[in-house]
Amino acid sequence: MKNPTENEIKKAAKALKDGHLVAFPTETVYGLGADATNEMAVSRIYSVKGRPTDHPLIIHICSINQLTKWAVDIPEYAIKLAKEFWPGPLTLILKRANIAKDFVTGGQVTVGLRVPSNPLALALLHEFEKISGSAIAAPSANRFGQVSPTSCEDVSEEIGMYLAKYDLLLDGGISFIGIESTIIDCTTDQPAILRSGYITKKDVESKLGIIIESKFGKIGMKFSGSFERHYAPKCQIILGSHTSQGNGFLALSEIETPPGMFRLASPTSVMEFARNLYSTFRTADRMGLNALIVTPPLGDGLAEAIADRLEKASLGRY
Ligand code: TXA
Ligand code: MG
Repeated sequence: MKNPTENEIKKAAKALKDGHLVAFPTETVYGLGADATNEMAVSRIYSVKGRPTDHPLIIHICSINQLTKWAVDIPEYAIKLAKEFWPGPLTLILKRANIAKDFVTGGQVTVGLRVPSNPLALALLHEFEKISGSAIAAPSANRFGQVSPTSCEDVSEEIGMYLAKYDLLLDGGISFIGIESTIIDCTTDQPAILRSGYITKKDVESKLGIIIESKFGKIGMKFSGSFERHYAPKCQIILGSHTSQGNGFLALSEIETPPGMFRLASPTSVMEFARNLYSTFRTADRMGLNALIVTPPLGDGLAEAIADRLEKASLGRY
């Protein structure tokens, strides 16, 4: 459904209530959603993605008011973060409440919660909460280990053939941010960043008035975004700016295209770079290129989150 109407959003919420899957846009990337309290529906997410069942899903809630329904022992700093950054591209890992079962948390005693800011996502979440009292479990709508989709067409290409008759796909255009949410572990005295994103370490530190730890890039934690090899297209991602005849090139617009290379995008800002990153990976694959040379934007904040995705992508696929 393109630019779904209020009625179509109601239909999608009803589909979720009936145990079907609904892929929907968020400001970060597209999600593949199911009723977070429906074990059968959630198990279909895992089979459509081809994802191991011990990998926890993020539960998307419609407002901060739902926080205490899904989590317990919530530290003061987590409430501060939720108040400041929700709705928005931030996922909080908290101790789970009873309603968050093993089948959605991958057997962990914690739960990942987020209120997205995309208006379509929010409308769907509110409607679904109204008719079911539940929330939407949704990982990125790609096959396991592959690049997150940032448009409805990308979702179709990734998982369209695995969806069933009554599953739905909501088209909300291009994802505004383009890389996945920042994940913060809020299960200890001090918060720690598990996955970088649009909301940066600095944003969080200035809000809380403390220095916090970044654990992203550290291997061995049980969450798929922490895998070394992730977010990788079929073509090889090579970081740098050298000439590599016949291959793709992605850099900020101020950097010239080396001779003999295909310029796939010329983002004019770091924001635009993030928004174009995954679609450029896909373009390179559609063109059948062997390699995509990427000159990452420099700096901290969002540039760091882009660098994290690129480093993982450059290690290639499993
Ligand atoms: O921006 C996003 O976060 C997107 C949109 C759709 O919201 N979702 C997303 O979901 O990226 P997914 O499943 O592709 O990545 C979520 C990450 C995974 O690495 C997962 O393991 C981790 O969050 N995660 C979820 N619950 C967790 C938990 N209880 N403890 C630790 N990590 C958790
Ligand atoms: Mg993912």
